[in-house]
Amino acid sequence: MVLSNDVRVERQAGVLAITLARPQKKNALTAAMYRQLLDALALASAEASIHAVVLDGEGGDFCAGNDIADFVLLARQAASFEQSDVWRFLTALVAFDKPLVAAVRGRAVGIGSSLLLHCDLVYVADSASFSMPFVDLALVPEAASSLLLPARIGYVRAFALFALGEALDAHTAVGLGLANALLPPEQVRPRALAAAHALAGKPAQALQATKKLLREHARMQAVMAVEGREFSERLMSAEAQATFQAFLARPARGS
Ligand code: COA
Repeated sequence: MVLSNDVRVERQAGVLAITLARPQKKNALTAAMYRQLLDALALASAEASIHAVVLDGEGGDFCAGNDIADFVLLARQAASFEQSDVWRFLTALVAFDKPLVAAVRGRAVGIGSSLLLHCDLVYVADSASFSMPFVDLALVPEAASSLLLPARIGYVRAFALFALGEALDAHTAVGLGLANALLPPEQVRPRALAAAHALAGKPAQALQATKKLLREHARMQAVMAVEGREFSERLMSAEAQATFQAFLARPARGS
């Protein structure tokens, strides 16, 4: 099954595999892709025969974050961030009730990293790196990452990622408990799929109940609401517009 050229969805027995497939743009996420991801999560949630979801990215990088041209469009619209497709996707991601397994090769930037905080198992290649340079873009953390990241790795490390724009390499991410295992690149997706199939063989109701116990859904939603209001304001700010234009006006790469 294919939802679009930029998001591929494949059913494998009890597992739904979702691939970000816009490698020419490092899998940067557009509004259309968020809608397709939302549809894929809705399908996985509604279908009793699907017990786990695998998420990966095509090409050398997992995801370069939100498409910056889309940020410009979003800021121009009268609608707030909370009415956007990205917001609808994040709300569904936080509420998603079945296990999510990520396979990460290369860079995970911005929402490409914060969405991993909502994955229940994360396998990474040695090429993987995680960065959340929200302040460099004159934005603020989203997807409840202002709660989840300091809780996982400690306040000062989280602040360095958010505010200094530092990146974590794959080895450090495993050491800090952000990922389960470091693997050769070609083994990352097979390992994620194997883990998802193993989960699909477990008692389904106990599995979902366990995820529910581990995830503080109401708290994440409350934090997201506060983040969302701040993100909306930052997105419209002159300093954010300037960072977006600076990215979009970069000279052509490789020239
Ligand atoms: N939005 C829109 N386009 C993006 C993008 C994004 N977030 N990230 C990458 N791209 C595009 C580039 O513009 C380029 O397009 P082009 O070939 O038409 O010029 C293409 O993807 C390849 O990216 P490039 O920058 O040439 O690759 P690189 O390997 O030199 O650098 C990154 C990769 C991810 C470090 C760099 O692209 C980057 O910093 N992207 C922005 C990341 C970001 O700030 N995301 C938002 C976080 S909230």
